[in-house]
Amino acid sequence: MADEVFLKLVGIKKSFGGVHALQGVDLEIRKGEIHCLAGENGCGKSTLIKAISGVHIPDEGSIRIDGEEMKNMKPMDAINRGIQVIYQDFAVFPNLTVAENIALNGELKDGVKRVSWRQIHKVAAEAMARVGVKIDPDIRLERLSVANKQLVAICRAIMNDARLLILDEPTTALTAREVESLWDIIRSLKEKGIAIMIVNHKLDEIYQIADRLTILRNGSNISTGAISEYDQERFTKDMTGRDIVQQKYQPAENKEEVLKVENLTRQGSFENVSFTLYKGDVLGITGLLGSGRGEIGEALFGLAPAQSGKIWLNGKEISIQSVSDAIRNEIGYVPEDRLTQGLFMDRSIRDNTIAASIRSYLKRGKLDEREMEEATERWIREIDIKAPSTRPPVRTLSGGNAQKVVIAKWLNTDPKLFILDGPTVGVDIGAKAEIHSILHDLASRGIGIIVISDDLPELVQNCNRILVMKDGRPSGILDNSIDEVSLGKMLIGA
Ligand SMILES: Nc1ncnc2c1ncn2[C@@H]1O[C@H](COP(=O)(O)OP(=O)(O)OP(=O)(O)O)[C@@H](O)[C@H]1O
Ligand SMILES: [Mg+2]
Repeated sequence: MADEVFLKLVGIKKSFGGVHALQGVDLEIRKGEIHCLAGENGCGKSTLIKAISGVHIPDEGSIRIDGEEMKNMKPMDAINRGIQVIYQDFAVFPNLTVAENIALNGELKDGVKRVSWRQIHKVAAEAMARVGVKIDPDIRLERLSVANKQLVAICRAIMNDARLLILDEPTTALTAREVESLWDIIRSLKEKGIAIMIVNHKLDEIYQIADRLTILRNGSNISTGAISEYDQERFTKDMTGRDIVQQKYQPAENKEEVLKVENLTRQGSFENVSFTLYKGDVLGITGLLGSGRGEIGEALFGLAPAQSGKIWLNGKEISIQSVSDAIRNEIGYVPEDRLTQGLFMDRSIRDNTIAASIRSYLKRGKLDEREMEEATERWIREIDIKAPSTRPPVRTLSGGNAQKVVIAKWLNTDPKLFILDGPTVGVDIGAKAEIHSILHDLASRGIGIIVISDDLPELVQNCNRILVMKDGRPSGILDNSIDEVSLGKMLIGA
């Protein structure tokens, strides 16, 4: 049973206009296995998933489910054969309750005309019991954390007798502890014989969960094997086609102050935070969820201003009570939740890239088209945004490439202080290295860089100093001679 094939893809091709997203993919998913799919941003992972789930009909190639050849498969055909997908954005309904989100799908599928309240509750309770989660069934989805929204999506998915559950980047917005409990649930589903396919970029997470791994590059499958056949070197090489060696960031010694913060306090978020950022510094701020790490960034950008304390930027004391104060003082901010806070999805890459710096393109009452075009082209090149031109709407970009557009937007404002919350969440290894080297460049030019993150390797590699927050208070500032393991221990206060 273990080696029986549930899904077999041969030579799958799919193009969008001139973009060849899939260029001939072969893949087998076995019954009851956990199969990870990895590859750089834009290599075709989400497109492949949409081909498997009937959202996109491939231009060429064959799909077999349980031995049956599927021709022109529609989403309903895939669902009826047990294929369920949880997309990058979960596609839950924020204004419906937990119970409604879980149960309504099934009701719609069965063509039920009148839905009974009791029935919805019963179905939802059963699904939650099967997955082993406990969430108040009457709470609206918009009030749940990301992790809980995802659990609701899983409950909904397995309700319809799933045989293959596909999760597109399920861990990007989760904390380490939430990832572990997600893995527990995934393992229990596997024990029930459900095959699982997970898109994931992080090898350490893949090790914890996967039986096998397939790597895509530029729309083709490069390799498939047991997880034990991969180490970091092969993983990186197969994904990017090159070796990426990163060294710890070490700026030249410098005592020129860029940012100084003294006793910054916001009740309920953080208290008495003081630090100095010198020219060349990339300062990391880390801590567990609820430690206040993200709130410091929000305060410095005026989203949730501090109530007391002082801030100096380049030697001048400034007051930040609102976002416009922050912008006037040339502070840039990349929010953690980029896809909802940072982008106009229906506008072009160019419109998004210049959105925060549009004034500087105004020449005698007219926007300078050529300059806007050139700036956008430059960022597409420099941070390797995968797109045919500056014109397509951001909606058509892959998830990771859309994130790069937000980063480009703020880089294009030429800020004096640049705060990034989770700058490389969901961004692949190659692009991560590029973004990091851009940050190092900016720092050496005297721009203050603050990276808020819980990605320990990222912090240790890229920040020369790291402020650790615990329960709203700074518990220490470290230099980057620390290793990931000790830093991890410090975070939990061990
Ligand atoms: N509907 C669409 N219209 C035009 N181009 C598209 C569409 N969907 C995907 N693409 C393009 O196809 C390529 C593959 O995108 P896809 O979303 O599959 O990447 P991905 O591997 O999931 O990347 P990520 O890790 O960033 O999520 C990209 O170049 C993307 O811009
Ligand atoms: Mg994707």
